[in-house]
Amino acid sequence: MKKLVALMIMASIFAAPVAMATPATDALLAKYKAEGVSKIDAAKAKADWTKEAKGEDGELISCSTCHGTDFSKAGKHRKTHKVIEPMSPRVNTERYTDEKKIEKWFKRNCNDAWGRECTAQEKADFLTFMSAQ
Ligand code: HEC
Repeated sequence: MKKLVALMIMASIFAAPVAMATPATDALLAKYKAEGVSKIDAAKAKADWTKEAKGEDGELISCSTCHGTDFSKAGKHRKTHKVIEPMSPRVNTERYTDEKKIEKWFKRNCNDAWGRECTAQEKADFLTFMSAQ
C-alpha cells in the first residue's frame, strides 16, 4: 500500500509540467533575480510567445513564427527556412544547457521579433515557461 501511494505521488509529480532545470537555467535565473526580478510569470511568457510585433522588416512576427507553438516539434526560420530543432528539453536534451547560447539568442530573437531586447523579467518568464515544455 505504501508503495502504491508513493507511486501515485511520483506519477502526479511527473505529470505536472515542471521546468527541466539545468545548471545554465539555474545560473541565468539567479542572474535575472539579481537584476531585480522577484516574481516569475510563466503564463505571461506563454501569451508573449505568440504576441506579434513588427519585426525589423515591418512584418508581424512572434517567437512562434520561427519556433512554432508545439515545443516537441521542429520549427523553421522564417527567412532562411532552416530547420530549428524542437525547443522542448524533453525531446531535445541540448536545450538550455549553455548560458552564453541562451543569452545570445534571447538578444537576437527579441530584437528580431519585437525590435528591442527583452528585459530580465521577460527572459526569466520565457526561460521558465520554455524549459517546462
Ligand atoms: C527569426 C526566427 C526566430 C524568431 C522570431 C525567434 N527565434 Fe529563438 N531561435 C532562432 C534560432 C535560429 C535559434 C538557434 C538555433 C537553435 O537553437 O536551434 C534560436 C534559439 C533560441 C533560444 C536558445 C535555446 C537554447 O537551447 O539555448 C532561445 C532561448 C530562443 N530562441 C527564444 C526565443 C524567443 C523568446 C523568441 C521570441 C521573443 C524567439 N526565440 C524568436 C530563431 C528565432
